[in-house]
Amino acid sequence: MTLETETVHNRDCVEGMRELAEGSIDLAFADPPFNIGYDYDVYRDNREADEYLDWCDAWIAQVVRALKADGTFWLAIGDEYAAELKVAMQRAHRLVCRSWVIWYYTFGVNCKSKFTRSHAHLFQMVKDPKRFTFNADSIRVPSARQLVYADARANPKGRLPDDTWILRPQDVPDGFRPDQDTWYFSRVAGTFRERAGWHGCQMPEQLLGRIIRASSNEGETVLDPFGGSGTTLAVAKKLGRRFVGFELSPEYAANITERLASIQPGDPLNGPAEPLVSSPRTEDGRRLDEPKKVRFRRPKPRANASLPGFED
Ligand SMILES: C[S@@+](CC[C@H](N)C(=O)[O-])C[C@H]1O[C@@H](n2cnc3c(N)ncnc32)[C@H](O)[C@@H]1O
Repeated sequence: MTLETETVHNRDCVEGMRELAEGSIDLAFADPPFNIGYDYDVYRDNREADEYLDWCDAWIAQVVRALKADGTFWLAIGDEYAAELKVAMQRAHRLVCRSWVIWYYTFGVNCKSKFTRSHAHLFQMVKDPKRFTFNADSIRVPSARQLVYADARANPKGRLPDDTWILRPQDVPDGFRPDQDTWYFSRVAGTFRERAGWHGCQMPEQLLGRIIRASSNEGETVLDPFGGSGTTLAVAKKLGRRFVGFELSPEYAANITERLASIQPGDPLNGPAEPLVSSPRTEDGRRLDEPKKVRFRRPKPRANASLPGFED
């Protein structure tokens, strides 16, 4: 590694990643601008499609170069470019897709003539499908066999997180559990204590926690080319990983540096590990036509909330 680690570099990630030693990164997580006209500090998020895809090709090439032979690359991307980038990663960059996860979130930005954006794609890509890190035990969740059927055959460690369509997770009979590959974590909305307040795309720490725990080990190095609010780097630090990141905006980079300075390895991750426990069901919520004194009742904790070993 020729570039300083345990920090964020305020520079263009394509340039910066060229200075990372080849094969030095265990896990890369990238949440690039989606090219949907989002208002960032300095980056212009409305390129011509070909220009955007060429740029993605350039930075993905650097990620792949820096990644170890047994390394993993997770890409977060919107609907607009998910298909093209998945094909590019497989065909041009010779990566293999292990999982195509949907991150389903609430509090998406309301749209007027289309359905409200409430999910992003998370691609788990590896260089070698026979040799990569996947710490299944670090991300297990309670299984239905354990929770519902008290089935003696249940693996006491729980099961790995399948996929399904959910409208509002709080209302799904028996709860929307994270034992599925549609993951429910709320976006870090304006009123949340976790929210840093200076970056609109701040990802929840718990989501990065699952990725970093599953795809890397303590002491290994995590790369994030698009620092944003610094969530990846902050979670990597909390979980005892080494880390290196890039961020184009001087203001965002300075804020990330501050965020990193305020945390220590071993600190708990922000946000609920089991988001449903802190969200009211519709039937428990207050209707707008009801008097204000009718407050939300605390939702009944789900069975899995009290199982040891599944909380941070
Ligand atoms: C979607 S945000 C990342 C959000 C981040 N995952 C988080 O949780 O806060 C993308 C970030 O990439 C930054 N960016 C855009 N182009 C870049 C480049 N060439 N090099 C480094 N950072 C860049 C933008 O300034 C923006 O902050």
